[in-house]
Order: sequence, then structure tokens, then C-alpha cells
Amino acid sequence: MIKKCLFPAAGYGTRFLPATKSIPKEMLPVLTKPLLQYGVEEAISAGMDTMAIVTGRGKRAIEDHFDRSYELEHQIDGTSKEFLMDEIRGIVQDYTFSYTRQVEMKGLGHAILTGQTLIGDEPFAVVLADDLCDNDGDSVLTQMVQIHSKYPDCCVVAIEEIPSNDTDKYGVIAGELIEDNLYKVNNMVEKPEPKDAPSNLAIIGRYILLPEIFDIIKDTKPGKGGEIQITDALLIMAKKGKVLAYKFDGVRYDCGSIDGFVEATNYFYNKKE
Ligand code: UTP
Repeated sequence: MIKKCLFPAAGYGTRFLPATKSIPKEMLPVLTKPLLQYGVEEAISAGMDTMAIVTGRGKRAIEDHFDRSYELEHQIDGTSKEFLMDEIRGIVQDYTFSYTRQVEMKGLGHAILTGQTLIGDEPFAVVLADDLCDNDGDSVLTQMVQIHSKYPDCCVVAIEEIPSNDTDKYGVIAGELIEDNLYKVNNMVEKPEPKDAPSNLAIIGRYILLPEIFDIIKDTKPGKGGEIQITDALLIMAKKGKVLAYKFDGVRYDCGSIDGFVEATNYFYNKKE
């Protein structure tokens, strides 16, 4: 069973400046809920009970959100608005939140390594909250947990087909189809130019990782953009046949981009009763 979910949330969110000058990108709301709460709810739906969050300077709103707010709760208790706090109150009461800070933003791989102290020596999930996923059946993370339980010696990354000229925004995999929608990865490249991309199958912000990844990240040199890339670390495991890529069932919006954020907002607005 995978019990811990790591949320790297230390990035600067520069594409959303000036909004992200003092508000963490992960706290931007789609309708009334911050992106990070959607991610936490997805982890809970997949059976996880411990949320490990990698934060940075200026991210204190995250800790305050996943905490009691006595004054506010006192104000609305017994009023018609009390129900608006039900979900978040339940989450705060029933699940564990732990935090560590990434002092220098050296990339996603480095952010994951920073989370080692919260994860320890067990398989864990990673959610990038700015990739907002939704579906009516099992959540994306639930689907990935099911795959991991069948292949416990492998990491699992979620992939989707992207337009061929968008490969320079993603980690891109190549692999051999071993089951419906499931590939054994034999190559992965971070943000390749379209002409160098091994396929149009892009990694999105959901991973199940084995703890041995931490030692591999420690030995991973900065790659694309001078950042320590999780894709480069995972390639070492892929070469040992230990990475699966899963084409998930559901929708995904890149809420780290303005277009994706607006699309997600419209999607959830149209979906609500
Ligand atoms: P992004 O590259 O999408 O986030 O990283 P960013 O750097 O904050 O965004 P822009 O490009 O400046 O607008 C994906 C995820 O990894 C986290 C980010 O917080 C985001 O959730 N991250 C990235 C870290 O936690 N630390 C890092 O050093 C880099």
C-alpha cells in the first residue's frame, strides 16, 4: 500500500506573476478550491493518508490552508455558510500533513530529493498540483496505484499523447507496449525539440516512485535548464526495465499555464450542479 504522497510546491510560478508574487501558485483557486486541495483529494481517493509537502519561501499560505482556522470557523459555525468549510475541515482532521523547505529551487528532481526526509524508505506518490486531473471513475492516482500493485518493482509515470510540436514542454518517453495503455519505458528525454522527441507521449505530473530514486537523484547532474530533472534520474531506472508509463483514463489541465488554468476553470464550472 502506498500511504504517502509528495507534493513539490516550491517553484516560483513565474508564468502567473504578479499573482504569484505573494500567493503560491499551488494556492490559486479553480472555482473555490486551491489547486493543491484538488491534488490532496486525489491522493486521499487513492488511499493515501500522509501528505508530504515541499515548500519554499513565501509559501506559508499552504500550511495555513491545511490547518484549523478557529476564528473563521467560530464566525461561520451555525450559519448557512458552515457547509463551505466541511471538505477542508474533514481533510485537516483526518489526514497528516508534513512540510519541508527547498531552500534553492534547483528543479523538480531536487525538490523530490528534498522530500526524502518526509518519505523515508517506502514507495510513494508524487503529485504536481498544477496538473489538475479529473474523471468520473477511479482517479488517475488510483489507477496508477493499481498498476504499481501489479508491478511493485517498477516506478510508474502517467503519460498522455500531446501534439508533436509541444514536446519541448514535457518529459517524453519511448517504450514497448506491454498491456493496454501501459508501456515499459526504454528511453525518456526532458523537453526535447520536436525533431529530437522519441514519441509524442508526454509525462504529466503524477508519479509513483520507489525509494531507490533518492540515491539516483543524488548522483544526477543538472540537465535541461540547469535544473536537476526527475526525468534524467528515472532514465537510469528505465534502463534497468524499472519504469512503466501509463496512459491514464481522465482529463488533465496544465494549470501552470494561463490557457490550461482557464480551461480547467470552465471545465469545473460547467460540471458543477
Ligand atoms: P514548474 O516548472 O511547472 O513550476 O514545476 P514553476 O517553476 O513554479 O513554474 P513557472 O514555470 O515558473 O511558471 C513543476 C512543479 O514542480 C515544483 C513546482 O512548484 C511545480 O509544482 N518545483 C519545481 C519545485 O518544487 N521546486 C523546483 O525547484 C522546481
